[in-house]
Amino acid sequence: MKQAKVILDKDYVIGRIDPRIYGSFLEHLGRAVYNGIYEPGHPAANQDGFRTDVMKLIRDLRVPIIRYPGGNFVSGFNWEDSIGPRSERPRRLDLAWFTTETNEVGLHEFCSWAKEMNSDVMYAVNLGTRGLDAARNIVEYANHKGGSYWSDLRIRNGAKDPFGIKLWCLGNEMDGPWQMGHKTAYEYGRTANEAAKMMKWVDSSIELVACGSSHTDMPTFGTWEREVLEQCYENVDYVSLHRYYGNPTNDTPGFLARTMDMDSFIKTVVSICDAVGGTKKSKKKLGLSFDEWNIWYHSAEQDEEIKKRDRWGEALPLLEDIYNFEDALLCGSMLITLINNSDRVKIACLAQLVNVIAPIMTRNGGGAWMQTIYWPYMHASVYGRGESLKALVKTPTYDCVDYENVPLLDIAATKAEDGTVSIFAVNKDMQEDMLVTVDLRAFDLKEVKEHIVLHHDDVKAVNTEEKPDNVAPITIKDGEIKDGVLTIRIPALSWNVIRLG
Ligand code: AHR
Repeated sequence: MKQAKVILDKDYVIGRIDPRIYGSFLEHLGRAVYNGIYEPGHPAANQDGFRTDVMKLIRDLRVPIIRYPGGNFVSGFNWEDSIGPRSERPRRLDLAWFTTETNEVGLHEFCSWAKEMNSDVMYAVNLGTRGLDAARNIVEYANHKGGSYWSDLRIRNGAKDPFGIKLWCLGNEMDGPWQMGHKTAYEYGRTANEAAKMMKWVDSSIELVACGSSHTDMPTFGTWEREVLEQCYENVDYVSLHRYYGNPTNDTPGFLARTMDMDSFIKTVVSICDAVGGTKKSKKKLGLSFDEWNIWYHSAEQDEEIKKRDRWGEALPLLEDIYNFEDALLCGSMLITLINNSDRVKIACLAQLVNVIAPIMTRNGGGAWMQTIYWPYMHASVYGRGESLKALVKTPTYDCVDYENVPLLDIAATKAEDGTVSIFAVNKDMQEDMLVTVDLRAFDLKEVKEHIVLHHDDVKAVNTEEKPDNVAPITIKDGEIKDGVLTIRIPALSWNVIRLG
């Protein structure tokens, strides 16, 4: 059996985890909103048309914040279309996903629903086809108490109290030529700066996220961040990162190594932020908003076919990736990467939440079930609160096509308010279990309260409506703490949560 050694100390803290790193994302795309969270006429729908079975699955995830309404969609969206009497809301062609947007679910409906989910809203403004005026007006509509044109309109539309949206995205993926209103870094940086100034003049309590690169393979990656931040550094609070991984060559070890890219992506963006801050002699440190991350590949080609076939349909099934067991392992490792970088990553959104590259799937008129990736996301969100601890790790490594010295053991540790330490671990070894010792002498921990394991013998195993528990966690009795040292067996190819008290 392979072995790894870990040292944890209660005083070696990476940082206080911002709960918002367990955020998610709902875009007006495919069946995410329509026929996802909202399906009037469904047996489980409430009086507002929202599915209560889906609400329960989301509540169990304890999602602290949900990014909305896009995504690429937002770059052609008029927010004013989504308010007022539903019968008067326009039907629009959405040029991001070639579908028809009915605007049946709008700002008021979404904010009420999010409140029921105990989730805050992270609202993206359109800096593609729109600009400064639309951006400052929606802040006034959503957050101003009353006595002005837009805030009084909100009140007339039924919401006496402001929505109090605290976190705003300044557009979406503006570096991408696929984006409506795509801009150069300079053009975007200037627009983001002016929008930021005006939005904060309306409500000085809000926080703003500037668009970073859409992914690390963008030819402009790095220079984009630098040039954008040179324009808007002092008026924004976070810069965004987006990243999706796939396994097109069916190389499991290579696929599970992708967090090497994610970790270096984060560290590179931190360096660029600090370099720009340094040249500006700024005291301010920017946070990172990893506001789109996930695995995304299974349905890419199919999406193209659907787009050609059903152009301008409503609530088309788009980007409906079916996640398998190895996807859950990488999802777990990506969460570990976020926790281990939580000194600078303050927001992160699993993209997305329902039906569209999502942990939750639904059938129109039918059931709702958890995909494989639901589990690591739920475990990290529920147990990974408090402080993140700096784990010193000695683990065997492996080489693969793109990376050398990939750790076989990915690990992160957190300490909750009540003193419980949670260890999150992925053993990437395809064959062998790993015996892990964790030096905990700096703590007063007595026992393994729980050891949760997610494993399946088939890396391609999936959950379906008929077999929703095919890939599901179990609790095992294993591991003991003796003289302050935990000794525990981490099964081959598994996601683990070890809770110590
Ligand atoms: O999450 C799906 C899409 O991926 C989003 O609309 C876009 O921002 C990204 O490219």
